[in-house]
Amino acid sequence: MSLSIGIHDLSLATGEFVLPHTALAAHNGADIGKYHVGIGQESMSVTAADEDIVTLAATAAAPLIARHGSDRIRTLILATESSIDQAKAAGVYVHSLIGLPSATRVVELKQACYGATAALQFAVGLVRRDPAQQVLVIASDVSRYDLDSPGEATQGAAAVAMLVGVNPALVRIEDPSGVFTADVMDFWRPNYRDTALVDGQESVGAYLQAVEGTWKDYTEQGGRTLEEFAAFCYHQPFTKMAHKAHRHLLNYCGRDTDPTAVTAALGHTTAYNRVIGNSYTASLYLALAALLDQADDLTGQNIGFLSYGSGSVAEFFAGTVVAGYQDHLRTAAHREAITRRTEVDYAGYRALHEHRLPADGGDHATPAQTTGPYRLAGISGHKRLYTTR
Ligand code: HMG
Repeated sequence: MSLSIGIHDLSLATGEFVLPHTALAAHNGADIGKYHVGIGQESMSVTAADEDIVTLAATAAAPLIARHGSDRIRTLILATESSIDQAKAAGVYVHSLIGLPSATRVVELKQACYGATAALQFAVGLVRRDPAQQVLVIASDVSRYDLDSPGEATQGAAAVAMLVGVNPALVRIEDPSGVFTADVMDFWRPNYRDTALVDGQESVGAYLQAVEGTWKDYTEQGGRTLEEFAAFCYHQPFTKMAHKAHRHLLNYCGRDTDPTAVTAALGHTTAYNRVIGNSYTASLYLALAALLDQADDLTGQNIGFLSYGSGSVAEFFAGTVVAGYQDHLRTAAHREAITRRTEVDYAGYRALHEHRLPADGGDHATPAQTTGPYRLAGISGHKRLYTTR
């Protein structure tokens, strides 16, 4: 009999601040309908000067350790595309902040927004090899585009931590997967840049191509039919993209693309991304969190996952919601992570956007801004210094 392996627990974290799209529209003169309806975004999380992918990741992961301990965790995989070092894995700092044992392997994975899905699939493989072990998978990203660029309205920041193991309490991950890779330049960030470069229209088209490609492969691998899914979680650079993608899938499969059917299939998956913004690797798993936290009982239902990472790599796979999952959700904590954010005005957001750690090798403290459990206290001799608050 095949093992049941999947997501045993899931926890999210997001930035200290929030910028409503009304403030961005007031600055750049855009009609607010373009943001609220056109791209389906209401606000975006903004990180404090003393937050980064490490503090977000540790904040998301700590509650998992508090609930389950760390005895069975022998691997931590952190997926990100906003990495802070070209050599050292960000997960090593997280390992220290959340107190994992030294007998742990830690590695960082990158392929744009797709990385966390690779991490999840690799984790399933590790657990299949040794079912006694659990793998801590963390998706953590801060999305940054140039000020006054079209991508600016699609920024955001968040981390999702998932504990992967046998007999999961939330979602069982199934075989097969449909996978797709195409060498396209739709979105990228060269090593010398802090902000991403993007060809917006090309990126939307590349995403839709990947939807087709993954579904074709998924079907050829013997996957489920569309009708077997109760809901679809998509990577959501902006929530309207999930609608475009699902409509495209229905169309590709020769099904009716009635907007009500599309909205019903997406269910509650857009609720968190709509107010957090693009969190790259974490976005797909925020969609899952929003669905589980808000839908009526999903026990035994199949969920389709479409993970897309520019460049591009994509994967379609299925998960089945496990009986009793509602007893293990962190709905109140997730809502609190979102509602506790402090609103910034446009000038405050701009100052945070322009903030950079000095690169001169000196000793520099960062302003104390975050009210979260971990902070980037400063930099000294080119070494980042993290503390617990
Ligand atoms: P834009 O040029 O500012 O906007 O860029 P637009 O003119 O295309 O308008 C957007 C939508 O709003 C359109 O609807 C307009 O009609 C509508 P659509 O034709 O798409 O259905 N609109 C309005 N609706 C109601 N009331 C109004 C109004 N005005 C206009 N008054 C773009 C939009 C998404 C291209 C831009 O924000 C961008 O470049 N974003 C970044 C790239 C991106 O998110 N791409 C998505 C696919 S790639 C991906 O998902 C990967 C990624 O996450 C990175 C990774 O993998 O690491 C990005």
